[in-house]
Amino acid sequence: MSAPRTPAACLIGWPAAHSRSPLIHHYWLRTLGIEGGYVIEAVPPEDLRDFVLRLSLRGFVGANVTIPHKEAVLALSTPDTRAKAVGAGNTLWFADGELRSTNTDVEGFLGNLDASTPGWDEAEEALVLGAGGASRAVVFGLLDRGVKRIHLANRTLARAEALAAQFGPNVHPLPWDAIDGILPRAKLLVNTTSLGMHGQGALDVDVARLPIGAVVTDLVYVPLVTPLLAAAGDRGLKTADGLGMLLHQAVRGFELWFGQRPEVTAELRALVEADL
Ligand code: ATR
Repeated sequence: MSAPRTPAACLIGWPAAHSRSPLIHHYWLRTLGIEGGYVIEAVPPEDLRDFVLRLSLRGFVGANVTIPHKEAVLALSTPDTRAKAVGAGNTLWFADGELRSTNTDVEGFLGNLDASTPGWDEAEEALVLGAGGASRAVVFGLLDRGVKRIHLANRTLARAEALAAQFGPNVHPLPWDAIDGILPRAKLLVNTTSLGMHGQGALDVDVARLPIGAVVTDLVYVPLVTPLLAAAGDRGLKTADGLGMLLHQAVRGFELWFGQRPEVTAELRALVEADL
């Protein structure tokens, strides 16, 4: 009889790029005393189907999926509600002999707000900037948690309109130049655009117009404290950073693959921060 294999997960992407996921999962494996692994697999688009269909044969209990495969993987697995709504899967696992996919950005976004800014979900109105893939995960999460009115501002209004049409009447598309008028009503402001990231343009939003007690969160995490978060902090507003979301989105995958729900600890944050 052969010895049971050590469970391992992988990150499927192309081309091979630096990722913090191995650091995160190795930390949890080590601190929880689980014998397991997490490796990066560079898989070109033409090999994706074969790789995913043989995931188990290759010895993997599951995988993370990143650029450019997050949409393609839906057709190669059974997507859950989140993956379907977001239109992208970033995590694969096996259940009842079936390969399933989910999108853990939703849980990462919500988990980070719950941990960093508890009470945030009392906000009835939110302003979300950006209408790409990350925005879809955010909008799904906010609706799921009962936020009643989501103003969705995007440089290209048509993308915000398409997203609103998908998610229903609580999502209101907003032209980019109308942001100022909505700020005084937004108890929650979420930046899902790449503005504010190192090497990208600046995000020009006047946080002084937000109501007292508003929560501001940025999905950008390089730099860790974006100009938006710095300005919000200076005004005494509550903030949640993008690194928190990155760490919290990894929790669900680990739990699905290795059977224990890990904690996002200060020690883990410090480890990943040192790698940014
Ligand atoms: P992701 O999956 O990370 O959301 P994406 O789908 O490429 O990535 O979306 C990027 C978002 O950042 C979009 O909302 C984009 O606006 P457009 O839909 O108009 O392209 C937004 N974005 C990127 N650069 C921007 C800029 N210079 N000004 C305003 N918005 C910008």
